[in-house]
Amino acid sequence: SDPDPLQDFCIADLQGSISVNGFPCKPASNVTSEDFFFDGLAREGNTNNSFGSNVIQGNVLAFPGLNTLGISMNRVDIAPGGLNPPHSHPRATESGILIQGQLLVGIITTSGVFYAKNLTAGQMFVIPRGLVHFQLNVGNEKALIYTAFNSHMPGAVIVSVNLFGSRPSVPNDVLTKAFLVNESVIDQIKSKFG
Ligand code: GLV
Ligand code: MN
Repeated sequence: SDPDPLQDFCIADLQGSISVNGFPCKPASNVTSEDFFFDGLAREGNTNNSFGSNVIQGNVLAFPGLNTLGISMNRVDIAPGGLNPPHSHPRATESGILIQGQLLVGIITTSGVFYAKNLTAGQMFVIPRGLVHFQLNVGNEKALIYTAFNSHMPGAVIVSVNLFGSRPSVPNDVLTKAFLVNESVIDQIKSKFG
């Protein structure tokens, strides 16, 4: 859903001093074959963390060759029992393919309807732009998915981290009212994301 490109390519100059919607292009005379290739999704991510999952983003920041082309990919590794926690992408629809393992993929719509399915290797899914979704490893082996987006920078709002781990912190007065719980519950959750 990014704007259409106006030239063959525009390898991002991430260090560029001018500010535009996207990134300025590095001079064509400096472009090499390397600019069109990226090996950042080749290696397994470290899932030894509290979610038991790891998302490696292959967006324009990691792979400057994607600049202005309106696409990007991620690699998601999930340990048995691990969760890629509920999140949304404000700027892209996501599709994905499960390469290995067994995964419950769930989507919650803007009207609060929950759609989900258990996937096995080779199966694909789609997450409409902006909708909250998650992937839970329901198998006994590690799960691997590759995801693709129609934006060079989809953005990711991880719901729990966003509300409870922001800096500065969202006032407890807001969160107790939003979740209809008392302050000790909010403090406990905040302590996990601080
Ligand atoms: C998975 O949901 C991803 O955003 O890569
Ligand atoms: Mn996603």
